[in-house]
Amino acid sequence: MSTVTESGAFGPPPPVAADAIVVEGLRKRYRTDGPEAVKGIDFRVAQGEIFGLLGPNGAGKTTTIGVITTRVRPTGGRVLVDGLDVTTDQVAVKLRLAIVPQRPNLDRSLSALENLTFHAAYFGFSRKARRERALELLEQVGLKGREDDRVDQYSGGMAQRLIIARALIHRPQILILDEPTTGLDPQSRLFLWDTMRDLRERGTTLILTTHDMAEADQLCDRIAIVDHGEVIALDTPRGLRRLLPGEQGVEVVVVPRAGAAGTDPAATLGAAPGVERADVVTSAEGRTTLRAYGAIDAAGLVPALAAGGLDLVELRQLEGSLEEVFVHLTGRELR
Ligand SMILES: Nc1ncnc2c1ncn2[C@@H]1O[C@H](COP(=O)(O)OP(=O)(O)O)[C@@H](O)[C@H]1O
Ligand SMILES: [Mg+2]
Repeated sequence: MSTVTESGAFGPPPPVAADAIVVEGLRKRYRTDGPEAVKGIDFRVAQGEIFGLLGPNGAGKTTTIGVITTRVRPTGGRVLVDGLDVTTDQVAVKLRLAIVPQRPNLDRSLSALENLTFHAAYFGFSRKARRERALELLEQVGLKGREDDRVDQYSGGMAQRLIIARALIHRPQILILDEPTTGLDPQSRLFLWDTMRDLRERGTTLILTTHDMAEADQLCDRIAIVDHGEVIALDTPRGLRRLLPGEQGVEVVVVPRAGAAGTDPAATLGAAPGVERADVVTSAEGRTTLRAYGAIDAAGLVPALAAGGLDLVELRQLEGSLEEVFVHLTGRELR
């Protein structure tokens, strides 16, 4: 009987991957006579995933994050964090999450260690536990040995790591990062990406906002593309690329058919049904890699190539970039 199992008589029920965050019909208007910054947004973030909110400036990303972190009051819809409503369970919600804000808000006149211990005090850590937890986190983000430096002597990358350490003080289940790598040098950016992947390994749920396509692509399990206060697409990076029309092109590898007279692979492929353009990418030891663009019928390629004395040995659909997806969906560049 299922009720017996659920009561725990035969051990705890199997874990269910519940949603860490549920956003339903979220709306926000800052001024009653002003425009809506968020116009009915829906998405769910599963426990343990890296979820991206990708969109241009002014899309409503920070506003959405503000509601999830209880800083911004929604004018419509609802948001649940670990099943708790952000408008009625603010304290419990705040214990479950942490934010790395878009603008650094460290106390620059204090040392790195003091910044962390003050924050730990706010969460009720004892004096001893504050220091231990702070030092542990400083080591985790690679700032060991720099704990007594004042923050105004820190580089941008170091300050960002310190902000992350501070956010992690109370061991939040969910970490939200608002444009975390904007303005960082490439090395700090890679460090941050590694840190985020590492946190995911440990089971932390991450939400990241960005206007950087490559960042979203590299890091996120799923991405919501946001524009003018609305989610215009939501999928895995691969799934988003599939939104691009089929004419994105194919890459093929061809070899000469045994005994066939030598032909020009580019010309042969260029004459296949639907192909508007064909370019050679590489050619070595008879193996030629080409790309073809147009409304290509893959089934028609084999006989067309065979007619030119070529065997098709590999075929794959070319994947567009997320930048192309954004342009396809909105008719505009992201930046
Ligand atoms: N505190 C505020 N008061 C009034 N309007 C705001 C406020 N914060 C943001 N907005 C407006 O809401 C819209 C969305 O902004 P924001 O959520 O910051 O977007 P993003 O983070 O994607 O750049 C913008 O038009 C912005 O000007
Ligand atoms: Mg923002």
